[in-house]
Amino acid sequence: MASILSVRGISKTYAGGHQALGTIDLDVAEGEIFALLGPNGAGKTTLISIICGIVNASSGTVTVDGEDIIKGYRHTRSTIGLVPQEISTDMFERVIDTVALSRGLFGKPRDDAHIEKVLRELSLWDKRFAKVQELSGGMKRRVMIAKALSHEPKLLFLDEPTAGVDVELRRDMWELVRRLRDGGATIILTTHYIEEAEDMADRVGVISGGKLILVEEKTALMKKLGRKSLHVTLSEPLGAIPAGLSSWSLTLADDGHMLDYQFDAHAEDTGVSALLSRLGELGIGYKDLNTEESSLEDIFVDLVHRPAREAAA
Ligand SMILES: Nc1ncnc2c1ncn2[C@@H]1O[C@H](COP(=O)(O)OP(=O)(O)O)[C@@H](O)[C@H]1O
Ligand SMILES: [Mg+2]
Repeated sequence: MASILSVRGISKTYAGGHQALGTIDLDVAEGEIFALLGPNGAGKTTLISIICGIVNASSGTVTVDGEDIIKGYRHTRSTIGLVPQEISTDMFERVIDTVALSRGLFGKPRDDAHIEKVLRELSLWDKRFAKVQELSGGMKRRVMIAKALSHEPKLLFLDEPTAGVDVELRRDMWELVRRLRDGGATIILTTHYIEEAEDMADRVGVISGGKLILVEEKTALMKKLGRKSLHVTLSEPLGAIPAGLSSWSLTLADDGHMLDYQFDAHAEDTGVSALLSRLGELGIGYKDLNTEESSLEDIFVDLVHRPAREAAA
């Protein structure tokens, strides 16, 4: 499918000399939900701000819907909707006015029916005549989303959309994201709630220290890096791992009461059955067995911390 977003050689060094982004290349296909995962300070907001034309890049180009974001500014701006990390809107305006005005700012003709639809979808219709400042934090966030949707963007950015929001809004938001995607929109979200990326995204990019260290289909990523652990609860504790078990990568835990075996969940032969029969041969009894699959979270933590560990080694 065609790219709606192409990022080529984008870097950013802020005034003062801090390099927030290395050289970033990224393509996002039309209709995708793309999750950008990374710890605080990784450069997520900087990258989004460059694509949205709020921050100037130090080098590189960005193409949105076939147009360069600088030369084709008017078109790319109206193609993009941004729900920023921080709530920023005119607090003294009424909800309906701030949302309708936002549509106008993107050069779209007035469309009361669309504004009503957006407000209803976000459960804001009853509050449409309230001033923004009178609303709770969660409702203010809904207003930010309504503003971003006011001009029917093809490419929607959600920067940490669920950080600090209540469960209800989070659920509503994901329902809305799915509906928007079903309607043909492309969604790029940043998060450090990994379960969300796991749930929602088609593809995941991991950003750390201003570098995109990995971009992968979510399912392929989980498959490629997926590991399982087998936990064997022993009948009698062991003081050390017996020599007869040296062909498996094992660790002892829980004061010798638990034997843990890490294996590649997708290997032809995981080594589990051979391990269990060897335990039998050695007369090592066990009371319980259970396995655990690594989540995207384990993979993410591993990836983000690996460069630091390698640098330290
Ligand atoms: N306006 C700015 N001036 C200088 N440094 C900035 C500015 N905005 C962000 N930074 C720095 O750039 C890095 C990346 O920040 P940011 O893009 O906000 O990361 P994230 O959104 O992943 O938390 C951080 O080290 C941050 O302190
Ligand atoms: Mg941020």
